[in-house]
Amino acid sequence: MLNSLSGRFLILTTVFVMLAEVLIFVPSIARFREDFLLNRLERAQIASLALLADDMLAEELEAELLENAGVYNVVLRRDEMRQLMLSSPIPGQIAQTYDLRMASAWVLIRDAMLRLGDRDNQIIRVIGEPVRDAGLLIEITMETEPLRMAMIDYGLRILALSLFISIITASMLFLAVRALLVRPIRSVVGYMQRYANAPEDARGIISPNASVTELREAEDALLMLQTQLTHALKQRERLAQLGGAVAKVSHDLRNILTSAQLFTDRIETSDDPLVRRMAPKLVGSITRAVSLCESTLAFGRAEEPAPTLTMVDLRDVIADVVASEALAVGDAEIEFGMEIAEGMTVRADPEQLFRIVMNLVRNARQAIAATGKPGTILIAASQSDEEWHIEISDTGPGLPPKAREHLFTPFQGGMRKGGSGLGLAIAAELVRGHGGDLRLKETDRTGTSFDIRLPRGDETF
Ligand SMILES: Nc1ncnc2c1ncn2[C@@H]1O[C@H](COP(=O)(O)OP(=O)(O)OP(=O)(O)O)[C@@H](O)[C@H]1O
Ligand SMILES: [Mg+2]
Repeated sequence: MLNSLSGRFLILTTVFVMLAEVLIFVPSIARFREDFLLNRLERAQIASLALLADDMLAEELEAELLENAGVYNVVLRRDEMRQLMLSSPIPGQIAQTYDLRMASAWVLIRDAMLRLGDRDNQIIRVIGEPVRDAGLLIEITMETEPLRMAMIDYGLRILALSLFISIITASMLFLAVRALLVRPIRSVVGYMQRYANAPEDARGIISPNASVTELREAEDALLMLQTQLTHALKQRERLAQLGGAVAKVSHDLRNILTSAQLFTDRIETSDDPLVRRMAPKLVGSITRAVSLCESTLAFGRAEEPAPTLTMVDLRDVIADVVASEALAVGDAEIEFGMEIAEGMTVRADPEQLFRIVMNLVRNARQAIAATGKPGTILIAASQSDEEWHIEISDTGPGLPPKAREHLFTPFQGGMRKGGSGLGLAIAAELVRGHGGDLRLKETDRTGTSFDIRLPRGDETF
């Protein structure tokens, strides 16, 4: 509350109003004292005029006149020669004399403050000018207690009034600040928070409507910021998707090109001299294309498009994979085996299924080739009521520990020199797109096997 904007305003207003009241209080209490004394002088002057009618007043009448005027003595000097004088016994010594005729404002203020602070009831003499030019000078003797009491009374009234004014002013300011500043600021902050939580939610975008200029500027600036940011976010998202798509295309394009590279190896041994002469150029171009794909792969990946599912003959797809991988075997002694029932079909996207199996078989082939020993790669398929299984097993050296830790994580599990560590991640993602999953079934020093599970679901599809 006290740290809030309206709370601060409440406190500051109260303090400022009180300060202003003090500035008013000091001169007005001095003024009050002066008026009080002048009033006493005037009343005393009127009382003394009774002497003009009757030179010798009765003692009781004189006492009564003085009491009504609130003074002990009056001396009214009419001119150099004549003066009127009323007097009654003074209960004590005259403590001080005040001459109002030439008192400066500063002296009046000082005397008023001293009077307020002095608790003793004193006898004082006050000198002033008679009203209506009734003489040269008037002088009275009076006690200070009634004066001080009246001053305190007056001060308390000023205090109460200033309290009242400051409370009213402060609360009005409090409400005004809330309506004019706090609520619009809160609304702007609310928009900021909502936008920060969900930048794609259009409800977080502000519609400027503040009437206070500075707030309106803040709202406009926020709107501009949000518009630009949303635009940038959308663009970034689109670019990320594009980058992902390019990465995948590059990955598999590289694999295809690697196969082409193997063909060109054979072309180099052709009998036709022209073909032989072209071969190195072809090899050079393909190598450049492969490295271009590889550097593109360094940029990131994203979701594959949804598969277009059809019933595909599994043997056909696997035979394609084996044929293209067998070409790449080269000098190594690697045998391919296929245990798939004649005419077995699975529901899959043929292109994607080819890429899935291709990635797994290629990994196995590369792993066996790296050992320099002979080996076997077996692709077996089975089916149950709910699902199809395609198992790719090899007699290779098994997955290295780091590859096992980061299995299916893009760019992380790749241990092979020249590999990008995307193959298994892509295969797993494609299988997931079919509603199935890719699993490492087992791996040890005698070999590795992966299992592709595809759900059957509704086959009439
Ligand atoms: N059948 C396997 N036997 C032994 N190790 C394997 C086998 N399959 C994968 N690996 C290991 O797992 C790593 C990750 O494989 P992945 O296919 O994801 O990437 P990569 O083959 O290195 O690169 P890319 O396939 O993107 O060209 C490989 O580098 C390899 O070390
Ligand atoms: Mg691979």
